[in-house]
Amino acid sequence: MKIKGRKALITGASKGIGRAVAKSLASEGVDLFLTARDGNLLENLIKELSASDVKAGYKIADLAFENEVNELFADAVKFLGDINILINNAGIGIRGNVTEIEVSDWEKMYSVNLKAAFMLSRLAAREMIKRQSGYIINIGSGASQTPIAEYAGYCASKYGLLGFSESLGLELRERNIKVSIILPGSTATHFGGAAPEDKISAKPGILRPDDVANSVLYLLKQSDIAWTSVMNLRPLNLKRAHHK
Ligand SMILES: NC(=O)c1ccc[n+]([C@@H]2O[C@H](COP(=O)([O-])OP(=O)(O)OC[C@H]3O[C@@H](n4cnc5c(N)ncnc54)[C@H](OP(=O)(O)O)[C@@H]3O)[C@@H](O)[C@H]2O)c1
Repeated sequence: MKIKGRKALITGASKGIGRAVAKSLASEGVDLFLTARDGNLLENLIKELSASDVKAGYKIADLAFENEVNELFADAVKFLGDINILINNAGIGIRGNVTEIEVSDWEKMYSVNLKAAFMLSRLAAREMIKRQSGYIINIGSGASQTPIAEYAGYCASKYGLLGFSESLGLELRERNIKVSIILPGSTATHFGGAAPEDKISAKPGILRPDDVANSVLYLLKQSDIAWTSVMNLRPLNLKRAHHK
């Protein structure tokens, strides 16, 4: 896929992996529509991106709510005119034993990590099918295929996202639309509450948000006939720093 001039909707763009993906796509000339709940962070990012030669807009949305997901997509299409790339990145992980976790917390993980990705994918796929082209990239996790005690709800949502992503990929491949899921290992972001710097001190070789962003670019730049349905992205060696 030639990515310059394409138009992408990115969820969870206020920080961490989503922010890094937004910056790397902007540097490749992709117009962007960004979303998250924190409007200040999104606005700061849009200001940063104004130095690049792309059109970038945003909308505050809580993806736990169906109406906000639908309104987000409508505004994204209005702003971009078209959506060629959808990055379902927003996600939350709430720790808790199955015997104790609040049902509302379980539902929140299900809604943000899986249901919103389904809703946005189907809305985007309907547009992409009309044009017989497009790319949907989901950000899963190592927890899409590895169980973690006290994270049953998070794992359930991420295992679900893996099944959803691969099945949708099979549905859309003959429409010339690719669907991929990246399964990153632990990545130095604020995910889960700890500061990225503390995660790096504990595990110097932990993945950085840019590593995931580079993987998104790699997928987008693959040849038109190649399709990576699942990408396992792991740190090479957690004990050794690989980054400057
Ligand atoms: N960091 C890791 O170790 C790791 C490893 C594997 C996979 N992942 C996955 O990578 C993705 C990005 O995580 P990250 O590490 O970059 O974490 P992060 O820094 O906490 O970012 C999460 C993003 O999701 C957004 N978000 C959370 N709840 C939302 C909601 N209800 N509505 C809309 N947006 C919401 C957040 O924005 P607001 O707070 O502004 O709403 C933020 O932009 C997630 O899907 C996560 O599961 C992370």
